Amino acid sequence: MPETMNAIIISSFGGPEVLQHQTVSKPLPARDEVLIRVHAFGVNHAEMHMRKGEWDEYHPISGLECVGIVEFCPSGDLAVGTKIVAVMGGMGRTRPGGYGEFVSVPLTNVLPVETKLSWAELAALPEVYCTAWTCLFTVLDLKRGERLLIRGATSTVGQAALNLAVDAGAVVTATTRREERFEWLKSMDAVDVVREQDGLDEYFDSITPALPQEFDKVLNLIGNRVLLESLKLTKPGGRMLQAGWLGGLAPVKLFNPMVEMKPGVHFSLFHSKVLGSRDFPLSGIPMQEIIQKIEAGKWDAKPARVFEYSDIQNAHRALDSHDTKGKIVVIH
Ligand SMILES: NC(=O)c1ccc[n+]([C@@H]2O[C@H](COP(=O)([O-])OP(=O)(O)OC[C@H]3O[C@@H](n4cnc5c(N)ncnc54)[C@H](OP(=O)(O)O)[C@@H]3O)[C@@H](O)[C@H]2O)c1
Repeated sequence: MPETMNAIIISSFGGPEVLQHQTVSKPLPARDEVLIRVHAFGVNHAEMHMRKGEWDEYHPISGLECVGIVEFCPSGDLAVGTKIVAVMGGMGRTRPGGYGEFVSVPLTNVLPVETKLSWAELAALPEVYCTAWTCLFTVLDLKRGERLLIRGATSTVGQAALNLAVDAGAVVTATTRREERFEWLKSMDAVDVVREQDGLDEYFDSITPALPQEFDKVLNLIGNRVLLESLKLTKPGGRMLQAGWLGGLAPVKLFNPMVEMKPGVHFSLFHSKVLGSRDFPLSGIPMQEIIQKIEAGKWDAKPARVFEYSDIQNAHRALDSHDTKGKIVVIH
């Protein structure tokens, strides 16, 4: 008889009510995998789209990330009881994800950590900080002294990117749609905060005629809606990275690169599902250092909302609101 476990299942596509608890088979790790006892997990916008049937890949047991302890590691690479964070590696897409009591994950998608953070605090970090770090330092190749524009900076990924970029010595301009959030972003050491709106390029032209209006690097978390404008705001030789879709998934209409792209501007896209792959190894991400900065109180990365495992539907209701000011986590 296979061993069983509890898991949250997407029982059919729809609202948060489709998430149901069920007894399922406990996963069996292959030689290059590790079995994790999940203690907590962060929830992600992609999981909302998966729940609604709007994503290209999904597994009925959702969950792109989790934190917990090693239950069994066939290769012996990780000792039983090791505290870990895990992200991607097909979790919630091509294999059961972190919404199960146990999850089996490729070793390449797990990082051992030492920390006194609670499970809830730790669960707020893996996807957000691995994504923000990779966007800034692998894709944008951000350097000390460079001017960086973060569009959508109050989002959870945006806050992490702001913390990491300031720490690396970049000069950051941050955007939010709400003026009441300006002080908050300034308290995180953004040198400048501007209201996110259509026509941001015209706005920069009007307020800073004496300064260069173009940025060395732009991290666009708003998405397609401001893609062309974000390209205009990037200087030749600079890089614009689109890594979020807060403004919706509608495609850019009538994109004519000949007319709309400046020569020499680099444009790329990042999707965290590649984390842990050969090109984007987790081993390059200084997660232990990030945890130490958070433990020391240098950055506030506390989850905005914490829900019990039995309360997953309300966790997804909060996710659907797009307005929690930080990460939503679920604890066992
Ligand atoms: N590329 C990747 O690998 C990756 C990984 C993780 C997440 N993401 C994506 O990154 C984005 C941010 O994710 P998150 O979890 O950090 O988001 P989040 O924490 O839920 O962000 C919420 C904030 O985004 C802003 N926002 C909401 N709707 C908006 C709209 N229509 N236009 C402009 N701003 C809007 C609001 O801030 P203000 O009201 O202050 O403006 C809101 O407080 C999402 O699109 C997510 O899918 C991408």
